[in-house]
Amino acid sequence: MSAPSAPAPYRPPTYSTHPALLRPAVVSRVSDLIGYTPLFELCATATGSRLLLKLEHFNPTGTAKIRMARQMVLDAEERGELRPGGRIIESTSGNTGLGLAVVAAERGYTFTAVVDNHACADKLRGMKALGTELVYVVDDGSEDLATAAREELAEKMADADDNAIFTEQHNNPSNGVGYFPVAHELAAALDGRIDQLIGAVGTGGSLCGTARELARTVPGVHVIGVEPKGSIAFGPPAHDYYQSGTGTPEGAEIGALVDYGLIDEGVKVGDVEAFATARVVARRTGLLIGGSAGGVVYEALTRMADLPPETTMVALLNDGGEKYMDTVFHDEWMAARRLIDPAVEREVDELLTKLRGH
Ligand SMILES: Cc1ncc(COP(=O)(O)O)c(C=O)c1O
Repeated sequence: MSAPSAPAPYRPPTYSTHPALLRPAVVSRVSDLIGYTPLFELCATATGSRLLLKLEHFNPTGTAKIRMARQMVLDAEERGELRPGGRIIESTSGNTGLGLAVVAAERGYTFTAVVDNHACADKLRGMKALGTELVYVVDDGSEDLATAAREELAEKMADADDNAIFTEQHNNPSNGVGYFPVAHELAAALDGRIDQLIGAVGTGGSLCGTARELARTVPGVHVIGVEPKGSIAFGPPAHDYYQSGTGTPEGAEIGALVDYGLIDEGVKVGDVEAFATARVVARRTGLLIGGSAGGVVYEALTRMADLPPETTMVALLNDGGEKYMDTVFHDEWMAARRLIDPAVEREVDELLTKLRGH
């Protein structure tokens, strides 16, 4: 074992007064706390390249998805589809549902989430705490991801209720528009110096929405989409995976927001690598990131050494690790599913050792 090294000298963080980054001092709606999320420099190379994590779990509900949830509701109101006292129905793995639950509570709607047991228990508990009606698409306790069946049921329920809308996140343009402010925040924080953008792809809203708006002000950003191995947006083979909230499982439709014209590279990361990264990052830095975020960071870390000098890579992290204490950060749960590989954890640890501290 090598001798412990001294901690780096303490340097205070920098602050910005740019309006795109200024949180209001006092708010009276939870949704007014959406946005202004921080950037965390995870590592840098000796040649001046750096990896910055956009910490979207600093949004209310601990995820990026509340950005698009608010946008879907406001746009449906504007089109006259959502009437006072109406009902919102969505198929969700939990994070979109948490956002919709907040916005529904604020604006006087009822919210019904169509869910399955693949969703993290804490996301389901959170929606319930916020007053959501949960409808399980399968009630046999199976942990299988049931995206297609969930969507079918949500649509059927909305068709049967005159006062209800199905927000249909996979095909709703508001899903992409809701992330335009992410591009503004990045451009403001980095003064336009962004070379690469990497993020998870489920519906495609967060990565493609950010990339689309970013392209208007910062041209030429290289965009990398990451999905779990087993997901089909970037091709076969299809198989089950444990990364929650992301990817497109077999049988589900690839969402209209997945814009291949905006994604320069589509890659796949396995559960073992994604979860090892989340676990090692937590131990090494004190930052708790979610499972899909672990996949994004793994892919980014493996690219750092080959980046041209002075490259700034920004990774969009859609949620934090707090919701995964029963899964990604639970040793027995991980071991029972053969998701722990000490060699991979060592690989991530060594990458961090090599790249941190320049
Ligand atoms: C944890 C997590 N990661 C990744 C994604 C994928 O994001 P998007 O649907 O914007 O592609 C989601 C979406 O729900 C998510 O909740």
